[in-house]
Amino acid sequence: MGNVIAVVNHKGGSGKTTTALNLAAGLTRYSDITSSCLIIDMDPHGCASSALLGKPDGEAPARSIFDVLRRAITPQDGITSTVFDENIDIIPSSPSLDSISRTQITDRLLKVTQGLASSYGWIIIDTPPNLGILTQNALVAADYALIPSPCTGLSVSTLHQLRAVIEKIQERQNIWLQVLGVLVNMKDGRTDLEKHVAKQMRGEFKHAVFKTMITNNIKIEEAPSHFKSIYSYDSGCLGASLFRDWIKGELMRRHKLLEKKKGDKLEAINQAALEAQKS
Ligand SMILES: Nc1ncnc2c1ncn2[C@@H]1O[C@H](COP(=O)(O)OP(=O)(O)OP(=O)(O)O)[C@@H](O)[C@H]1O
Ligand SMILES: [Mg+2]
Repeated sequence: MGNVIAVVNHKGGSGKTTTALNLAAGLTRYSDITSSCLIIDMDPHGCASSALLGKPDGEAPARSIFDVLRRAITPQDGITSTVFDENIDIIPSSPSLDSISRTQITDRLLKVTQGLASSYGWIIIDTPPNLGILTQNALVAADYALIPSPCTGLSVSTLHQLRAVIEKIQERQNIWLQVLGVLVNMKDGRTDLEKHVAKQMRGEFKHAVFKTMITNNIKIEEAPSHFKSIYSYDSGCLGASLFRDWIKGELMRRHKLLEKKKGDKLEAINQAALEAQKS
């Protein structure tokens, strides 16, 4: 079974890239599935690419996901190793990705992840802050949607729109897409607001909202500009322990549960096909 996670939220600055980076590094360290991980950077701004490749100026890479999607190179040829972590590879972004936004092709990335799934324990896709073609490609290619969301009242209406898009893709293009969860990020200690926002988020995504909330933590903000995950940058800080405990605990339990759900669904589909053949 695939383990492709699209990190999505069309609200800008919600923590997608930060989560994608620390999730990838955490999975290679703490998950019980093969330790290698591939990040595909689908955001034309390329923040994940800069952090992983050690290029703060965002200089365009020689080979990118843009070249892969327009089939100028193979997916394998788009892969580059990172300075961030020896177990994490990347297919970097390029500013040219914006031109794909003007097409209507939504299943190109799926072909790429299908071809690479057996080479990596996990594939994480970072996405731009909109619900356009690039994010749709990520959701069509993914087994799971992970939604980082800031802890503010305004974020709830964004989640409502996002849920509608996810449901549409589940109905029409990717019946295997499941919501891995909503991860509240940048919690700032205002307990009443947090309780209120978490309750509203549960109204949209029910039990998919993780109990773990990532606090506003300066080390989390600093780590990518040193081209490091939070665990390498300061393994003892609160941000590192929050991400680590979330991955080892809630995330792994949720993943097992959803994998089983997917297995049961596959079995039911196969069973129905067999019965249709007999009759
Ligand atoms: N838990 C946190 N504590 C402190 N700063 C954080 C935290 N999470 C994210 N940030 C900071 O908030 C900013 C936005 O985060 P990030 O770039 O991950 O969001 P994004 O959703 O990827 O943004 P965009 O929509 O522009 O791609 C960054 O400067 C990041 O360092
Ligand atoms: Mg980002």
